[in-house]
This record gives sequence, C-alpha cells and structure tokens, in this order.
Amino acid sequence: MLIVNGSPHKNGDTAYIVNKVKEKLNGDIEEIFLYDKNIKPCMDCRYCWKQEGCNLKDDMEIIYKDDYDILVLASPVYMYNMTPPMFNLVTRLNWIWSNQFFLKKRVNLRKKRGILILVGGGSGEPKHALDTAKLIFKFLNADFDIKNDYLYSLHTNERLKIQEINVIL
Ligand SMILES: Cc1cc2nc3c(=O)[nH]c(=O)nc-3n(C[C@H](O)[C@H](O)[C@H](O)COP(=O)(O)O)c2cc1C
Repeated sequence: MLIVNGSPHKNGDTAYIVNKVKEKLNGDIEEIFLYDKNIKPCMDCRYCWKQEGCNLKDDMEIIYKDDYDILVLASPVYMYNMTPPMFNLVTRLNWIWSNQFFLKKRVNLRKKRGILILVGGGSGEPKHALDTAKLIFKFLNADFDIKNDYLYSLHTNERLKIQEINVIL
C-alpha cells in the first residue's frame, strides 16, 4: 500500500485519519509526505507528445514504480481543492494521456484500489478536491468506490469531527 499524504502537517488532522486507517490495514505500508518530496509541476515541455514517458526526473518515480495494490490519497482541502503538491502530482500524470493520444502507446499500470481521505476546516463540500483525486485514480488505474472508500472530515476549525467513515477495511 502506498499512502500519499498531501498535508504539510505530520501530526495534523489528515495524519489523524491516516493513522486510523493504518491501524486497520495489514501488509506493507509506504507513506510519503508530499511537502518533503520533490515533485515538480508539469512544464508542458511536450516531450511526451513525441517520446515515451516524462522528461522530468524527480520523486514521481515513487508513484511510477507501481508496486502497490492500494493507493491512499490523503489531503486537507485548500481552496476547495487538494493541496498544491497534490495538484503538481496530477499534472505530472498528463504524459500518460499524451503518450496514448499522440503516440498511440497505452501505459499499462497494475489494477489497484483507491482510497481517498479529505479533511477540511470549513463546511463546504470539497467537490474540486474530489475531482482531482478521481483524476489521479483514473490515470493510475485505481478503482475508486466512492461509497466505500471515501473518508472525509469537515469542520476541523471547530474540532475534528469525522462525519463519515465508510472505508470497508
Ligand atoms: C491555504 C488554505 C486553504 C484552505 N482552504 C480550505 C477550503 O477551501 N475548505 C475547507 O474546508 N478548509 C480549508 N482550509 C482548512 C484546512 O483544510 C484545515 O485546517 C485542515 O484541517 C488542515 O489539515 P492538516 O492538519 O492535515 O494540515 C484551508 C487551509 C489553508 C491553510
């Protein structure tokens, strides 16, 4: 299992829920904190229009190695979306689309399960964050069952209140 934590806080609200999930899941767990990693945004250099893969070499290799059967995306909601490093990450998956569209090369990634954890200080429905997460899952071939594999906690400004814990562990 790979847990991608998009919070700048190692012991924040997102980490609180991630740790609860970790207690329940067995097997090898690798957790990365995106704020500690070097994942550049896509620069639209268009390398992937003509060649396989991405021209940027950085910590995206952790994502690309594709040796995990569960992908947990965890992020606080920032401006209705996931945090900036998580958004960098999604832009770095665009080469998968470009390779297929321009080069007719399909990238075969292993089928995996996607689990999403979102945490927000306010009460707004994190629609944009959800859309970003769905894109990441789609590119990385993760099945995301929104009914069962989506946890969110809102109103953390008042207190950490887990409104819904649906993940079937
Ligand atoms: C720059 C910024 C933008 C934020 N935008 C939102 C938002 O759009 N909606 C929301 O509910 N909370 C928003 N928050 C609040 C965080 O989601 C909240 O404090 C969260 O519990 C932090 O989680 P963490 O402890 O894991 O970092 C924002 C916080 C920051 C710093």
